[in-house]
Amino acid sequence: MKKTKGIILAGGAGTRMYPMTSLYSKQLIAVYDKPMIYYPLSTLILAGIKEVLIISNDETIPHYQKLFKNGSHLGMKIEYAVQKAPKGIAEAFIIGEKFIGKDNAFLILGDNIFYGYLNFLRDAVNNNKTATVFGYYVKDPERYGVVEFDKSGKAISIEEKPKKPKSNYAVPGIYIFDNSCVQRAKKLKPSARGEVEITDLIKTYLEEENLNVVKIGRGIAWLDSGTPDSLLDASSFIASIEQRQGLKIGCIEEAAYAMKFIKKAGLNKIIEEMPNSYYRVYLEGIYNIV
Ligand code: G1P
Repeated sequence: MKKTKGIILAGGAGTRMYPMTSLYSKQLIAVYDKPMIYYPLSTLILAGIKEVLIISNDETIPHYQKLFKNGSHLGMKIEYAVQKAPKGIAEAFIIGEKFIGKDNAFLILGDNIFYGYLNFLRDAVNNNKTATVFGYYVKDPERYGVVEFDKSGKAISIEEKPKKPKSNYAVPGIYIFDNSCVQRAKKLKPSARGEVEITDLIKTYLEEENLNVVKIGRGIAWLDSGTPDSLLDASSFIASIEQRQGLKIGCIEEAAYAMKFIKKAGLNKIIEEMPNSYYRVYLEGIYNIV
């Protein structure tokens, strides 16, 4: 089976979040009790992905490097690359060409948060033949990429932010592609808004009947946190679950331990280097019970 490498796209202009984004990219803003990027990184970890490239702008990369270093403490390999200008999501595969090498790629957008039983992601990675994207039922599909299915459940069209959506199924910011995504991305022409669109890349697979669209069931929460309101909603959602259960969502150290990327001694070392904080107390609890 081919290896799949992860990419987190955590740049963007962030204009919708100004002035919060005047210092660094929005994926460092807190969603309840941790920086936003912890959530997509933990999603990749839970999908079993150990090698990750974080793409962001010049100013923000040093902050991510401070947070995650080379990833070895998490049993991972984390690298960094700059996207000079927000020229579109599909550009991630061009920037990541060397990193991806001969492997498959799993791209997640840095403001996408998933909660629930995420094993379907691991299955999708393992079962991916060419391209796998997802469909998630939402009230306001016009805000997203939208996928249309025929009666048999086969995906027949995909459109970026259509004024008249053909279905309620939005395409969340998680994409699993074979290695050909790099060359496909290079051939794309920028859209009217001057970006190489992820939807256009997905279309190349759809047209060849090489696209698998997996519907995400109702038991999974998909939140995006790209506007002040959705950020507040995401924070409240995370807080409600965490306070009720006393278990954290998006805790990368816990996820790395649960996925056996690190052993108990590795978790202990992480804890010892952490300042006194609620986060540390939480991880000490995990260390003591598991
Ligand atoms: C992007 C994609 C869109 C996708 C969405 C998921 O939109 O272009 O297809 O549904 O992410 O979060 P953007 O966040 O750039 O508006």
